[in-house]
Amino acid sequence: MAIKSITDLDLQGRRVFIRVDFNVPLTPARGVADATRIRESLPTIKYAIERGARVILASHLGRPKGKPNPEYSLMPVAAYLAEALGREVVLADEPVGDGAKKVVADLREGGVALLENLRFSPGEEANDEQFARALASYADVYVNDAFGTAHRAHASTVGMIKFVSAKGAGLLMEREVKFLSRLLGEVERPFVAIIGGAKVSDKIEVLENLLGRVNALLIGGAMANTFLKAKGGQLGRSLLEDDKLALARAFLRKAEDRGIEVVLPRDVVAAAGIKAESGKVVSAMNVPEDLAALDIGPETARSFADVIAKAKTIFWNGPMGIFEIPAFAEGSTAIAKAMAEATGKGAITIVGGGDSLAVLAKTGLAGKMSHCSTGGGASLELLEGKVLPGLAALAS
Ligand code: 3PG
Repeated sequence: MAIKSITDLDLQGRRVFIRVDFNVPLTPARGVADATRIRESLPTIKYAIERGARVILASHLGRPKGKPNPEYSLMPVAAYLAEALGREVVLADEPVGDGAKKVVADLREGGVALLENLRFSPGEEANDEQFARALASYADVYVNDAFGTAHRAHASTVGMIKFVSAKGAGLLMEREVKFLSRLLGEVERPFVAIIGGAKVSDKIEVLENLLGRVNALLIGGAMANTFLKAKGGQLGRSLLEDDKLALARAFLRKAEDRGIEVVLPRDVVAAAGIKAESGKVVSAMNVPEDLAALDIGPETARSFADVIAKAKTIFWNGPMGIFEIPAFAEGSTAIAKAMAEATGKGAITIVGGGDSLAVLAKTGLAGKMSHCSTGGGASLELLEGKVLPGLAALAS
């Protein structure tokens, strides 16, 4: 796909519409709880400012279902951004309409405006033409830096682009695609993927696509329980998907036929529930009836770390346990540490998905990875081999 970069576009004095993904978690007091996505788009925004663009930023926040709702206002984001840029950020009180039009018309060269939450209008998710045309009317140049939303075919990510004469990818979008696409091409081997999280059903497509590429697949988190039960394990009260056992069995058979090593937990940390203060290490194939597996056990963490230590390319998506609770965070922490060490030894380490990034934030190891993706669903869909609509629409 031939996609222009923002650095190929003439921005001077022009109205540059940048679709960003500022869909960030907020604190109960309505502050920004995790600003990673905002921070990661700063280079693109600063680049446009420095080139004398009139910058119009647009994003969604949460799922307000097509109606204005102050709970989902981008106001806290505008405040954070103004501080980070050290300049005024004017927040329009609506995504399109007279208010937005005026804010855009008043912009000076190097000025920054942020439209209110795009999903306050039903036209955004419906990719409605009228809404797309209204957004496009604010833009001389369209830039997409919202990798996290590139898997959505919405008005701001797809529909409006054909009504703007110049288009390109932002710096974050370029970096994301560069790193993640690497995993789909020739990689340095061994290539290892660590996949965790709750459900096999959410990740089966990415598992299937990775199976054709990796040398080893390490599976943890609650999704491992479904695979363990499919192999005849007793999982006690562990979370698992009984209706996906056949799928899990078929997947394990396919992996065996292809000679790909699928490593499942040998031991787990089990407890009666998430309120327990500590867990008990038990065999992964034999969890007591009254307990649930809530993390991978120390032997598993060690064996996963050994595989990671020998790898040259490593991708991680999804925690190994209920990492929010210290008693069940050790497995995920061990993966983060092993990956950080691997980066130090020259391996390419890529992490995607909000929960895995939260583990890195907690352990302070985010800076030790080759790349942390801001896209959860988008990074998985890219690795499933799908064409992301937001990228396809940027191609000329
Ligand atoms: C995300 O957080 O994955 C993106 O911002 C997309 O959000 P959505 O799943 O609500 O479309």
